[in-house]
Amino acid sequence: MTRDAVLPIAKEEILRQEQIAREVKNRPDCPRTYHIITYGCQMNAHDSETLGGILERMGMRAEEERDAADLILFNTCCIRDNAERRAMGNIIFTKEIKKTKPELLVGVCGCMAQQEGFSDRLRKRYPHVDFSFGPGEIYQLPERVLMALEGRREEAFKAGEDSTLYEGLPVLRSSPFFAYINIMYGCDNFCSYCIVPYVRGRERSRGMADIIKEAEALVKDGVQEIMLLGQNVNSYGNDTNGPRFHELLRALGETGIPRLRFMTSNPKDLSDDLIAEMARNPAICPHLHLPAQSGSDNMLRAMNRRYTRKTYLDRVRALRAAMPDIGLSTDLIVAFPGETEEDFMDTLSLVEEVRFDSAFTFIYSPRSGTTAAKLPGRIDPDTARDRITRLIAVQEKITAEVFESLIGQEAQVLADGTSKRDETQLTGKTGRGIACNFEGQAGQIGQIVPVTITGFGSNTLKAKQIM
Ligand code: 5AD
Ligand code: SF4
Repeated sequence: MTRDAVLPIAKEEILRQEQIAREVKNRPDCPRTYHIITYGCQMNAHDSETLGGILERMGMRAEEERDAADLILFNTCCIRDNAERRAMGNIIFTKEIKKTKPELLVGVCGCMAQQEGFSDRLRKRYPHVDFSFGPGEIYQLPERVLMALEGRREEAFKAGEDSTLYEGLPVLRSSPFFAYINIMYGCDNFCSYCIVPYVRGRERSRGMADIIKEAEALVKDGVQEIMLLGQNVNSYGNDTNGPRFHELLRALGETGIPRLRFMTSNPKDLSDDLIAEMARNPAICPHLHLPAQSGSDNMLRAMNRRYTRKTYLDRVRALRAAMPDIGLSTDLIVAFPGETEEDFMDTLSLVEEVRFDSAFTFIYSPRSGTTAAKLPGRIDPDTARDRITRLIAVQEKITAEVFESLIGQEAQVLADGTSKRDETQLTGKTGRGIACNFEGQAGQIGQIVPVTITGFGSNTLKAKQIM
């Protein structure tokens, strides 16, 4: 495939933005505090850490109370209609805050802001919103704030860059022992239901040396777990003809990071090399999130997923042959256009056959601009709700059975906090990615603690420390 040149943002442009950041910081009207509201996936959560890092460099500090902040930034998601509606409701509401606090700045970024025509509509219809930019323009935040302060409204709402790759932006990590690393941006798959390729642009992989450098710095900082992010991590390196994903994982294992995870994997690109590396590399957690979307070949074809039920199940078998204790999780969409009761039953039977630890289940939501949005055979809302309810019930039963089978087994839990209900209980995640509570000391937060599993609740395991 030929591709438009993916231009890394030049070092000079990053330096220019840093210069603007200093300029804005010295203005008397520069906001002193900020509040970021994040919707959507881990990619967005990590983007918000970068936005926070940039704002801190501009001399601002985080304000926990939204209504008390001088700058409110919405990092939006447009994957489904409800994500959009929630964000829009809150964006509109900031008009009320601005009535009593006219100096408040309101910014909108993330995937919604990259949608065709969205930023123009925002600029024209919502005068209380001050600026917007897309996910490929995060590095421009200082300049957008400056434009807003100077009332350069047209420029402050520019959106559209998607072929960018940047290095060297500050990140304000939200945890001292857990960190995200972006290994690639964008997506080339064009699953027929999905808006992501339109808002996050073409696939572009970061250089391996940059990723390793970032990981080494995190290890030095005491980080215990790194989550690698990309819309389709399995195709890392395809665009650059550089090292492939399994080679990157091998190199990352050598940085000394205790735990490595990654998401999201597309079943069609899950290579034997990757499975072998997962089995060999002791840092890689025994968990894989492998979105199936449907168990029906008709639906998979209509979704343009480019694998079949059979090849999906083959991959699951290969994973379990190499790693008998691996935990699998998945994403499933019900009520895709044209989905018959029989197609839906195929999804139920796939879930029964694979026995996922957990599944994220969604009712299909038409996204304008995608090919599925034009398909006939929309499923009525009652049928859609009935199907998702049945699917959730089947998965809940399987989750409970899987959890039950884990009782008596040992696990390693990265303790991440204390339980809200009981201070003597620590919370954390097992290597398999399941939430787990156990009795422990606050001083153990941030450590990987060996436990024996003793029981379970609806979404969590209960365990006892191995002393
Ligand atoms: N409608 C419903 N679910 C969707 N997803 C992506 N696009 C849509 C849509 N239009 C789901 C997929 C994907 C997850 C992140 O969101 O299951 O894996
Ligand atoms: Fe993440 Fe996709 Fe939502 Fe963007 S649209 S925030 S990439 S889930």
